Amino acid sequence: MNAVERINHFLLQRNNEHLFRKLIITNDLIDLSSNDYLGLSRSAFIRQQVQDDFKNYQFHKSGATGSRLLNGNSLLCEEIEERLAQIHHAEAALLFNSGFDANVGLISTVIRPKDTIFYDEMVHTSIHQGMRLSGAKLIPYKHNQLGDLIQKLNNSDYDIAFLITESVFSMDGDKANLSELAEICAQFRLNLIVDEAHAGGLFGINGSGLCNVSAVEEKCFARIYTFGKAIASHGAVVLGTQLLKDYLINFSKNFIYTTALDTHNLLSVKHSYNFIQINRNQLFKLNTLNNYFYLNIKKLARRFEVCGQGPIFGIIVPGNKNCKEIASYLQMYKLDVRAILSPTVPLGRERLRVVLHSFNTKDEIDRLFSLLLDYKTVI
Ligand SMILES: Cc1ncc(COP(=O)(O)O)c(C=O)c1O
Repeated sequence: MNAVERINHFLLQRNNEHLFRKLIITNDLIDLSSNDYLGLSRSAFIRQQVQDDFKNYQFHKSGATGSRLLNGNSLLCEEIEERLAQIHHAEAALLFNSGFDANVGLISTVIRPKDTIFYDEMVHTSIHQGMRLSGAKLIPYKHNQLGDLIQKLNNSDYDIAFLITESVFSMDGDKANLSELAEICAQFRLNLIVDEAHAGGLFGINGSGLCNVSAVEEKCFARIYTFGKAIASHGAVVLGTQLLKDYLINFSKNFIYTTALDTHNLLSVKHSYNFIQINRNQLFKLNTLNNYFYLNIKKLARRFEVCGQGPIFGIIVPGNKNCKEIASYLQMYKLDVRAILSPTVPLGRERLRVVLHSFNTKDEIDRLFSLLLDYKTVI
């Protein structure tokens, strides 16, 4: 088989498994799937703030023009890092170009081949990628099951070890028990790393995250916040000690060998964060919808298993084919709900991932529920 035949073979296989991925544009649908939880990507106010501030930075290049270690550093980068360290209550902050980069750049650099990593089985692919590159021994525990974790810890021998979890899980929409995890980490000498991608902006004082709610910020070895979700921009930040920051600047290839974020990107991060420091309206609307969805789940429970505590909910539809069909049916009725297929989620746990936003309405939720309950295909 030559290279082209091999590519073709794998694509055909994808197709046969109902897993073929295609890029689509769905602007005219009602958004029940994006990560724009607070609707900040639609905010004319933030857009204007960014434009106005851009003028203040006219002396700046608009593109970063290089890595932070060469020409790409700026006062703006450093101001934002200082501000994010304050907001997320950490000693130091280091920007990365995406959450994916932050996870790979942190985990693969700090964790070494003789180390051990305990991790929740539902963590994001970027964490898996970082863990694989680290060369460490990997020990997964059952999703959010701390009994299973403790059993594995009791049966393991290690010198330097880490525990990695998300705080709000991107697919199941449930939360990690961070205070108990932090206690376990203290008891078993584990360094705790928490990915707050889906919690930043939504929980804690001024959107500082779920680690703030659980009072574990200071107990973490590192925390990751991404800007592509509630912050409605792009990029990410790793929070930790100044020592960790210096280490990443010196050793993390995902930080060193890449062009830094551009000025416009940085300004949009700055102004979204400024916005959520003083504006609670969006969060209030989102929480109201969340409660409404949660209260009505029992209607769906007649036909579907539903997971999540919001704003992410999973409506389980086993089988890639079934799951894709029901997503297409909802899209036909103008609801942008996406199917999450195996192997992204475990086989038999394929699901519709429903995401609520501050700009959604109760009517839209009612419509979703009645379409799902009317759906005729045998599942
Ligand atoms: C838990 C989690 N971590 C990291 C990432 C990656 O973040 P980014 O989209 O900024 O690369 C995602 C993205 O979906 C995520 O869900």
